[in-house]
Amino acid sequence: MKFQTVCFVIIVKTGFAAGQDNLAFPDGFLLGAATASYQIEGGWDADGKGVNIWDTLTHEHPVFVDDAYTGDVADDSYHLYMEDVKQLKNMGAQVYRFSISWARILPEGHDTIINTRGIDYYNRLINTLLDNGIEPIVSIYHWDLPQRLQDLGGWPNIVLAIYTENYARVLFKNFGDRVKLWITFNEPRIFMGGYTSDTGMAPSINTPGIGDYLTSRTVLIAHANIYHMYEREFKQQQKGKIGITLTGFWCEPLTPDFTERCERYQQFQLGLYAHPIFTGHGDYPSVVIERVDNNSKVEGFTTSRLPKLTSEEVNYIKGTYDFFGINFYTAQVGLNGVVGGIPSRERDMGTIVLQDPNWPVSASSWLRVVPWAFRKQLNWIAKEYVNPPICVTENGFSDYGGLNDTNRVLYYTEYMKEMLKAIHIDGVNVCGYTAWSLIDNFEWLHGYTERFGVYAVNFDDPGRPRIPKESAKVLTEIFNTRKIPERFLD
Ligand SMILES: *[C@@H]1O[C@H](CO)[C@@H](O)[C@H](O)[C@H]1NC(C)=O
Ligand SMILES: *[C@@H]1O[C@H](CO)[C@@H](O)[C@H](O)[C@H]1NC(C)=O
Repeated sequence: MKFQTVCFVIIVKTGFAAGQDNLAFPDGFLLGAATASYQIEGGWDADGKGVNIWDTLTHEHPVFVDDAYTGDVADDSYHLYMEDVKQLKNMGAQVYRFSISWARILPEGHDTIINTRGIDYYNRLINTLLDNGIEPIVSIYHWDLPQRLQDLGGWPNIVLAIYTENYARVLFKNFGDRVKLWITFNEPRIFMGGYTSDTGMAPSINTPGIGDYLTSRTVLIAHANIYHMYEREFKQQQKGKIGITLTGFWCEPLTPDFTERCERYQQFQLGLYAHPIFTGHGDYPSVVIERVDNNSKVEGFTTSRLPKLTSEEVNYIKGTYDFFGINFYTAQVGLNGVVGGIPSRERDMGTIVLQDPNWPVSASSWLRVVPWAFRKQLNWIAKEYVNPPICVTENGFSDYGGLNDTNRVLYYTEYMKEMLKAIHIDGVNVCGYTAWSLIDNFEWLHGYTERFGVYAVNFDDPGRPRIPKESAKVLTEIFNTRKIPERFLD
């Protein structure tokens, strides 16, 4: 099966003609499911893999993770990947989004030592997918930095922009003949938080408003390095596409008076990464630059905490995309006001966000069910960034387990309906959707207490069988009929 490039053709805005089926997915739209290496693979020290920052966090700071769980075994996908592919095939998935564990390929972080058994593992996975007619979408970095690179300071150290490029080159050389869709980074806006607090996600470094912004600059340059290197060295032959996956949290103004605050929220959360890459102007959003500069001055910093991009770097980063990856789960209500420590990104942003207590809850404190916000967020991206091809790389719902996951079924069908309105009625160029997540997995600081899978996994059973939940059956129906079943009509 060849990758369907029609996905990246602008979908012409047709308006919504009477009788047109707006519950159906357009031709070429890619449907599938997603996972990430640390959350599913296990095999944390198998076959020459190096240690990464999540191994370190879970081993050295077990109190940071609910129930002191680790990803040492997780779903054991390192050994059971064929089970994962079997479920994808059963569902009729066209694509599978997974990430590569950097330290499994380069145990020391740099490319002088390449772990061929790590390469073999991903070759087996990719080949099994292709044999089953499933296209891989590969995230190059999904949060599991080799510890050896953290020892150099991690993402705040700009030298990582070069190490990341060299790592990505190893991936293109080894897998690029078969992998045609690449995501450089997954949600930098979230993993930069690893440098915001010493009780947060890995590597848990307490440099709020400083280390996190340094991370932004390194990530943007690393992303552009990878994009340009692929263009120079691989694209002509391999003909793949490269994007980045960013985090969408819709901000709904409490009243129209709060609209500007929500705009600012979007610029601080999404624009920090999207504006330099996806706008014609490039660079960080001006509101981010001005506010961080101003706050830095007031706080007594001689130099702004926001590491500036030179005009050369601005031009180098601008336009380095083939598609816009977005992970979308939920929304917040935005109010005026300033909160957060001095210094902090929160204070720089100067918007207070809350969740409406009337919105249905999930097992995750941050995730309430707000389907209409999905359509608004997709429209916001289309307007702000001139309708780029969008891939929804994550969307999903957490509960505490159980096979009859009625709330997850409702979540998926309601959110997909809103996405289809964005496509058919609003003309937003959405080209694919991968549900988070294929299987229950290690949910970072929440361990196995929150379940996102459409397949259940019993983490007490050494065989880790994958059991379809009700949601897996509904997604199977959707993937096969390519439409939302009539019974989910309003
Ligand atoms: C930054 O400070 C300058 C000078 O005090 C002021 O004119 C400007 O409005 C401030 N910008 C923001 C975004 O607050
Ligand atoms: C699943 O739960 C819903 C209500 O939550 C119930 O109506 C339905 O009968 C249940 N289905 C099964 C198969 O148990």
